[in-house]
This record gives sequence, C-alpha cells and structure tokens, in this order.
Amino acid sequence: MFKIGVIPGDGIGPEVIAEGLAILGDVAQLEGFDYTLERFDLGGERFLATGEVLPAGVIEQLRGCDVIMLGAVGHPEVAPGILEKGILLRLRFDFHQYINLRPVRLYPGVETPIRGKGPEDIDMVVVRENNEDLYVGAGGFTRKGTAEEVAIQTSINTRAGVDRALRFAFEQARARARQGPFRGLTKAEIDRGLTRQVTLVAKTNILTFAHDLWMRAFTEISRDYPDIKCDYQHVDACCMRMVVNPERFDVIVTTNMFGDIITDLGAVLQGGMGLAASGNLNPERSAPSMFEPVHGSAPDIAGKGIANPLAAILSVAMMLDHVGAAAAAERVCRAVARVLNRPASRTPDLGGTATTAEVGRAVREELR
Ligand code: NAD
Ligand code: IPM
Ligand code: MN
Repeated sequence: MFKIGVIPGDGIGPEVIAEGLAILGDVAQLEGFDYTLERFDLGGERFLATGEVLPAGVIEQLRGCDVIMLGAVGHPEVAPGILEKGILLRLRFDFHQYINLRPVRLYPGVETPIRGKGPEDIDMVVVRENNEDLYVGAGGFTRKGTAEEVAIQTSINTRAGVDRALRFAFEQARARARQGPFRGLTKAEIDRGLTRQVTLVAKTNILTFAHDLWMRAFTEISRDYPDIKCDYQHVDACCMRMVVNPERFDVIVTTNMFGDIITDLGAVLQGGMGLAASGNLNPERSAPSMFEPVHGSAPDIAGKGIANPLAAILSVAMMLDHVGAAAAAERVCRAVARVLNRPASRTPDLGGTATTAEVGRAVREELR
C-alpha cells in the first residue's frame, strides 16, 4: 500500500494524468497491489483565483505521500517563472530530488527524425543534476529598467552535489550492465572488463571553474568504477553527436541547465515530447520522489483532447518501479510498446488521428 500525491496542473497536464491514473488503476488490479490517491489543485487556475502558488500546508501534505505524480505547470496568463519556480522547482529542491532521470529510448514502430537510426541505436539515459546550477535562483538586478541595467544569474555547483549526481550515474551504468554490455564498446574494451559507459557532458573549455570541479570529481569517482568506461563531451558537440551518432551514448551525466536542454533533444530522438518520461528522484527516500512527463502544459493543444498521454503513462511506469512494483512497471511498458507497434492508436504528434482517451484505452487493452 502506498500513497500517491497527484498534481494534474495546467494545460494538457490533467488530460494526460487522467490516462496515467486509469492505467495505474488497471495494472494495480491485474498485479494485485493497493494505493491511495490524494489530489492537489495546484497550478495556474488556483493562482489566478486565490494568489496561492504552493501554500506551506500543501507542501507538508505532499511530504506525507510516498510519491508524487505531476502533469505539468505553466499557464499563458501567468508570468513565466511563478508556477515553474514556485511549484516545480520548489518541490524538486524542498524534497531533495537531486536526480532527474530521463530515459531516451526509441520504441520499435516509432519513427525517429534521425535518418537511418533505429531502436538499437537510441537507448540512453540522462542523469540530470536537479538541485543546483543556474536553477538555484542566485542573482538579481541592479539599476533595473535603466540603460545601465545589470542582471546576474549565478551557477551554483557544490562538490557534494556534483559527487552524488556522478555516483548515481555510475550506479545507473552498473544497473544497465545487467541488460548486457554497451553496444558502443570495442572488443578490446570488453576484453579489458568494461561493461558500460558514462559520458560527462559539460563545457570545461569555457566554464573553467564550475566544470573544472565537475571534471575533477568525475575523474576521482570513476576510480571506484573500473568496469565503466568514462567519456567526456562538450555540450555543443554532444548535441551534434546525439543527432549524428546517438548510438555513442549510454549514460549521460550533466548539469541541471544542460540536462534540461539536451533532454528535449533526446525526446525528439525517441519520437517527440509525447513519449519522454522522467523521475525527479530523492535516492535516500527522505522525502517523496516526483514523476512527470518531460513536456510542459502545451497550451497550443490544451483542451483539444489530442495530447499524447504516453509520456505520462511511461512516467507512471517509472513511479511503479520506484515503489518496488517492478512487474507492474514492466507490464505498463510492454503495453505501451505494443500500442506503438500499431499505427491506428496514435495521436497527431506521432502522425495519427487518435485522441488522448483512445490511446489510453489502447494501452489498457494491451495490459491484459
Ligand atoms: P511544451 O513541452 O509544453 O510544448 C512544446 C511543444 O510540444 C508544443 O508544440 C506542444 O504541443 C508539444 N507537446 C508537448 N507535449 C505534448 C504531448 N504530450 N503530446 C503532443 N504534443 C506535445 O513546452 P513549452 O510550450 O515551451 O511550454 C509550455 C508551458 O509549460 C510553459 O509555461 C513552460 O514553462 C511549461 N513547462 C512545464 C514543464 C513541467 O511542468 N514539467 C515542463 C516544460 C515546460
Ligand atoms: C523540465 C522543464 C522545467 C525545467 C521548467 C518548467 C522549470 O523545462 O522539467 O524540463 O527547466 O526543469
Ligand atoms: Mn525542460
């Protein structure tokens, strides 16, 4: 028995979360586990009606949940940042969700815009540091609104924060080794005992303070993982190679800001924003972890019933894995894979004409 806090949020958030919860209900019955839901009406509508973003009492209620499912926040009538920082970042920080785990995996039957590449080429996971960097909100203005205005926004990188993200990435690589060695390794590397690869993505040639710290930590921590190959890419070249040679990547570990950017690119490799899932993890479990699609509230398609619910559904699978319901998580992923193999059940982002509800229904049929 576990308790899920649900924040449907704004725009397409409630539309895709509804499908995620429907699938959760079905898989719970099939696999025989129990859970309770507690809903929280946070987001743009509540802010516009009451001025409240995330009241202290609500944070404490959320803290009492085992996990959180979030749709998306962001509202066209609310200034940028109020909801994103006030809800999403606040929860990531307050609940020490210092890892943002974002798998990039091309399912068979899904078209990637990268010509000539298939599911065997696109199977990586991005470990995005989730509590530091430019996201901390360190900085400010002076002489705001004048011609001499100065705006400063500082990237904060702590050795402890960097170390824990790096260690998590190496552990991910070890966990992936159980599925077999990384395909990008040469025979000589495999003979040397290497199994998987971690790529640090940073900008050591320019950010010679912050990313020097990342590189030194990477080198030191890698000594504890002699079975894992270490790789480094500057972030600009990484973007190029993700497109040209996605098969080069296994586990990527990177900063909060770069991780945000490259995971939208990753989403495209795997068929679009409608398919990209994520988990904001508190690995020590001292507070709830939070699962959400990588996409936002998509105001351009909100209310039309055509949003792809699969990113939210795959986020439910990540949540199930986190609470120890691995068989249920597997079952949801298999059902999604089967749906993606039949072109009739696709939303417009994947070139189909199906509605959000129809895709949700198709996944539930495939669960059985
Ligand atoms: P977005 O991800 O909402 O949308 C980008 C594009 O992808 C849009 O064209 C949209 O229609 C499409 N898209 C996204 N999800 C889709 C889905 N499930 N099915 C089909 N198409 C989908 O990004 P944006 O437009 O830059 O941001 C909109 C709002 O969402 C902003 O307020 C932003 O701050 C917020 N946002 C929130 C989160 C979050 O809550 N986790 C994440 C990203 C953006
Ligand atoms: C994401 C989003 C958020 C981020 C925004 C909405 C704060 O883009 O989850 O990728 O930048 O982390
Ligand atoms: Mn993003």
